[in-house]
Amino acid sequence: MSITILGIESSCDDTSAAVIRDGYILSNITAGQEVHREYGGVVPELASRAHQQNIIPVVDRALHKAGVECSELSSVAFTRGPGLMGALLVGASFAKGFAMASGIPLVEVNHLQAHILVHLIREREGINRLPSFPFLSLLVSGGHTQIVNVKAPLKMEILGQTIDDAAGEAFDKCAKIMGLPYPGGPWIDKYAKEGDPEAFKFPKPGAGRFDFSFSGLKTSFMYFLRDREKESPGFTKEHFNDLCASLQFTIIQMLLGKVIEAAESTGVKNITLSGGVAANSGLRQAFSAESKKRGWDLYLPQLRYTTDNAAMIAITGYYKYLEKDFAPLSVAPLAKYNY
Ligand code: KG4
Ligand code: ZN
Repeated sequence: MSITILGIESSCDDTSAAVIRDGYILSNITAGQEVHREYGGVVPELASRAHQQNIIPVVDRALHKAGVECSELSSVAFTRGPGLMGALLVGASFAKGFAMASGIPLVEVNHLQAHILVHLIREREGINRLPSFPFLSLLVSGGHTQIVNVKAPLKMEILGQTIDDAAGEAFDKCAKIMGLPYPGGPWIDKYAKEGDPEAFKFPKPGAGRFDFSFSGLKTSFMYFLRDREKESPGFTKEHFNDLCASLQFTIIQMLLGKVIEAAESTGVKNITLSGGVAANSGLRQAFSAESKKRGWDLYLPQLRYTTDNAAMIAITGYYKYLEKDFAPLSVAPLAKYNY
């Protein structure tokens, strides 16, 4: 019998619902939240309210697009955390109500594990390649940066992570210093395409063997611009593309360097990228080039699976369903959720 999972994601500023049947994606609908743009970051109270408004229409569209009736669902999976508490509560409460009303089991999902497992989603059209186990995952998002050894769908070992800011935060904070809108990552990516990545050198702060530190980069970038502006007013504007390219290059080198070390130390050659920053064109190119050199089998996520989406929750829910790893209706969201 088929296993059909409804996935719900509401951890930050995207309300998303998706349907996956036997590992194949049937639908993945996301409503973003423009309301935060003018504040230069996500405003938690506004996010909760927008989730509340969006969740029913988004689920409705996801079921409709999938051509699936509520009675055909095997389970509903939702993001338990990490994320904004008020935002998580909307998805969790919806999922509980839905599970209870439909008489189907509830599955709770860790958002970070879900980002990593996008590579296990099967597409209906065409045959897409899935990585074999073990694989190393570089998870780079707005809130997290980790290198994870994935031994099985639900068996993951974190080898290293950021000790301060996430890679996405480094992009966003430096973009803000340059006067770019939030989130700044995609803007840096855009301007970097026209710039020289080696025009300026920025320090790469050290951390533990497979760990990262990005907060020092943001500080040195800020002081660099302040000093250059003092010497030569208008410097930032004049060198905008080169600054974006050099900053992006520095972040990429930091990420790539640690993944090389982790791959050498574990002997694992299957490499995957996940999370919002995995949309970065420079990062994708750098990993593709390095993979050719090192004989890695590289898996780049489709762009629609890089930022937050419910397809990743549904695929993780699918694997948890296979293990009968169900959650009680008393389960509560977790703003911080280690795995
Ligand atoms: O995974 P995600 O949607 O949300 C979190 O779970 O954090 O990641 C959002 C992050 C933001 O920091 C955003 O600036 C970054 O991903 N991002 C990018 C690009 N697209 C999104 N960073 C660099 N280049 C991009 N093209
Ligand atoms: Zn995320």
